[in-house]
Amino acid sequence: MERTLVLLKPDAVQRLLVGRILQRFEEKGLRLAGLRMLLLPEADARRLYEPHVGKPFYEGLVRFMTASPIVALALEGKNAIGICRKLLGATFGSKAEPGTIRGDFGVSDSFNLVHGSDSPESAARELPIFFGPRDLVAWEPRILPWVYDLPAEFPRG
Ligand code: RTP
Ligand code: MG
Repeated sequence: MERTLVLLKPDAVQRLLVGRILQRFEEKGLRLAGLRMLLLPEADARRLYEPHVGKPFYEGLVRFMTASPIVALALEGKNAIGICRKLLGATFGSKAEPGTIRGDFGVSDSFNLVHGSDSPESAARELPIFFGPRDLVAWEPRILPWVYDLPAEFPRG
């Protein structure tokens, strides 16, 4: 199982899309392990997007991410990182495919509603910015054998 960080960015919260976006991950079969609403401190925004330091959009991105509350999700599942990135869609709302979150809910390139860790290394770096060990809940949805092909645990009846 992988764990990944997804952020519902300020535009998602302001546009009242939190429930609908969260539903995309739940209905896909990803497990919610952590959930927080917060106003992102500037230092944490800079740390999150540290790989983009020096790029032309970096300062605007920090201003955007700290302008209004966000919702942070820790999501778990097989291949959770890649699956979440696919659910998000291409970076720019103007280019993202219909059926993806960015493709269905937005047209803006910089206000693109969601963030998702792009690799296991990024997930390992980003998750602790938002979640300590006590913020994460280990639990197993009872529908798990129906979500995954786990033959040994295949339920009867
Ligand atoms: P994210 O990190 O937020 O999940 O997005 P991403 O991997 O799809 O895209 P990335 O290249 O990491 O860019 C981070 C965020 O910076 C903003 N951006 N604006 N105007 C621009 O040219 C531009 N390029 C990037 C977006 O908000 C993007 O999600
Ligand atoms: Mg990125």
